[in-house]
Amino acid sequence: MEHGSLTASDHILATEVKMERYIYDCVWDRIWIARNNDGVERTNEGRGFIQQDKEEFWQLMEYLIELKPQKILEIGNACGGTTLFWQALAPEVYSLDIKPLEGHIPGNYFPNVTFIVGDAHKQETLEEAKVFAPYDFLFIDGDHCTEGVKQDYEMYSPLVRSGGIVGFHDYNHDPVRTFLKKLDGLTVMPMDRFGIAILKVS
Ligand SMILES: C[S@@+](CC[C@H](N)C(=O)[O-])C[C@H]1O[C@@H](n2cnc3c(N)ncnc32)[C@H](O)[C@@H]1O
Repeated sequence: MEHGSLTASDHILATEVKMERYIYDCVWDRIWIARNNDGVERTNEGRGFIQQDKEEFWQLMEYLIELKPQKILEIGNACGGTTLFWQALAPEVYSLDIKPLEGHIPGNYFPNVTFIVGDAHKQETLEEAKVFAPYDFLFIDGDHCTEGVKQDYEMYSPLVRSGGIVGFHDYNHDPVRTFLKKLDGLTVMPMDRFGIAILKVS
């Protein structure tokens, strides 16, 4: 958007996007506050709280701000870093992992998240997630082997409504990419660090 050619509605849009970016920065800072307040010394900066590159993840956020999701499902929360962002975006968040949330972000940071603990590849776990479907956005960041990503996509993408989005993390991880390259219509975020790809559901 050329600055000189902004219309009044463009200005409003630009302001809203700036506000969203401000909130994004605040949530990101909040993760560090949670991280630094538990008195545990850590040497691996960032790892274990959110396994994302901040600017690359923001590029995904821009799509989601436009989507205005009401319900989000994620597969793979690790320490809940990504979960905090879904919660800032949507009133209902469902976060699935084979094990309970790790790490030090306090439980009360997740008022509108339902955690589902189970192996995503098991039918009984899918049944639990089905109860809350359809979802507007699904983020797949669980089992990173080729067959694992394929299975997560094939089992859970049918739970996403038409017009919704499926997001994948770690496109640059070879086993993940081996499967994702087979999908038509994939968009990879231009920042291209871990590699975040999205697919709009038709
Ligand atoms: C890379 S981490 C998720 C990182 C998190 N999304 C973030 O960006 O901070 C992958 C997570 O997937 C979970 N996972 C691996 N295999 C799984 C499976 N079959 N079912 C459910 N969760 C699984 C792991 O326990 C781990 O917490």
